[in-house]
Amino acid sequence: MGIFGMGKARASNQSQVDAFEVVAAQVVDVLATAGVVLDERNLVLRASPGAVQFGLVQNGHLIHASLLNLVEQSRLSNVPIEVEIQIDSGLQREQLWVNARAAKFGERYVMLLVEDQTEAKKLETTRRDFVANVSHELKTPIGAISLLTEAISGAQDDPDTIRKFSDSLQKEAQRLGSLVQELMELSRVQGANLVETAKELDLSQVIADAVDRNLVLAEKRRVRLITGSHESTKLVGDYEMLTTAVRNLVENAIAYSDSGSQVGIGLKVIDGIAEIAVTDSGIGIPEDEQERIFERFYRVDPSRSRVTGGTGLGLSIAKHAATNHRGEVRLFSKIGIGSTFTLRLPINNQESK
Ligand SMILES: Nc1ncnc2c1ncn2[C@@H]1O[C@H](COP(=O)(O)OP(=O)(O)OP(=O)(O)O)[C@@H](O)[C@H]1O
Ligand SMILES: [Mg+2]
Repeated sequence: MGIFGMGKARASNQSQVDAFEVVAAQVVDVLATAGVVLDERNLVLRASPGAVQFGLVQNGHLIHASLLNLVEQSRLSNVPIEVEIQIDSGLQREQLWVNARAAKFGERYVMLLVEDQTEAKKLETTRRDFVANVSHELKTPIGAISLLTEAISGAQDDPDTIRKFSDSLQKEAQRLGSLVQELMELSRVQGANLVETAKELDLSQVIADAVDRNLVLAEKRRVRLITGSHESTKLVGDYEMLTTAVRNLVENAIAYSDSGSQVGIGLKVIDGIAEIAVTDSGIGIPEDEQERIFERFYRVDPSRSRVTGGTGLGLSIAKHAATNHRGEVRLFSKIGIGSTFTLRLPINNQESK
């Protein structure tokens, strides 16, 4: 970055001006964030690499009018001025949220610091959406429970009605219970520290356990689970987390299949990657929804999920669990034919293959 405006300085305070410029240059050079020093004509004296990379400066000028405005304001103030503004950046004019701070530096200069807050903003939005979603999901069964208890106390002389309402009450309570359970699982996979919980485990055991936990559901929906015999496949990971992931995939395969159909669960190792594939011949997933179903609370058909009692968290838990193990979940699905979800995990165990 060149130094501008030196020739303008009066000879008498030339050395002071030079000293300021040197200090300004040094300060900006050590900044890890985007920092710019401007002279009295708002020409850029010095810009940190971060500021250049951020695209704040071009040909010795600040590009964004809003930042220039802030610089002007700071000249009239004896204290630093701070604002949170949106600026666009790059060829795609991507909108960024920045925190900008400007302060006088000596008599003639202004120092401007700009911090990118876009990620933090996004996180905040995600968090707010999440809380809103959770509240919404909780409200439905809680509302139903409250109505049902009222109805039960109003139907005291009618045992049949009481039985019917009690059944519904139990269903809603179960729904509430499984929602809370899933939220706990989600927060567990999100905050997991595998360094503490990882142990050597056998994936065939994980599958057996995940299938076991789905036996009641499979029987209820008259779906046959076919697992075949798997060779023992060792991996260092979190047993509970992987079992939850596989259980969720099997649970979906059962829930989104017709009664009388089959669900297959396979395990093989290809090029150092263990693949657990869960295949159903159920309703399938439209192509344009295949990416979105891994989002929290996303359901292709909310009305069907109401019947199955789903909240749309199962796949995001599975995906997080896979990512925590440096793996992924792949999906192949055709409407009306069925789906295969494949949990792919790199085998990190040196001794066993
Ligand atoms: N095997 C499958 N076949 C067809 N659709 C599926 C399958 N698995 C998932 N889906 C679709 O993806 C959506 C998200 O699945 P996910 O498991 O995250 O939530 P859910 O099953 O609705 O609820 P829960 O949180 O109880 O698991 C489902 O609502 C369903 O629309
Ligand atoms: Mg599910």
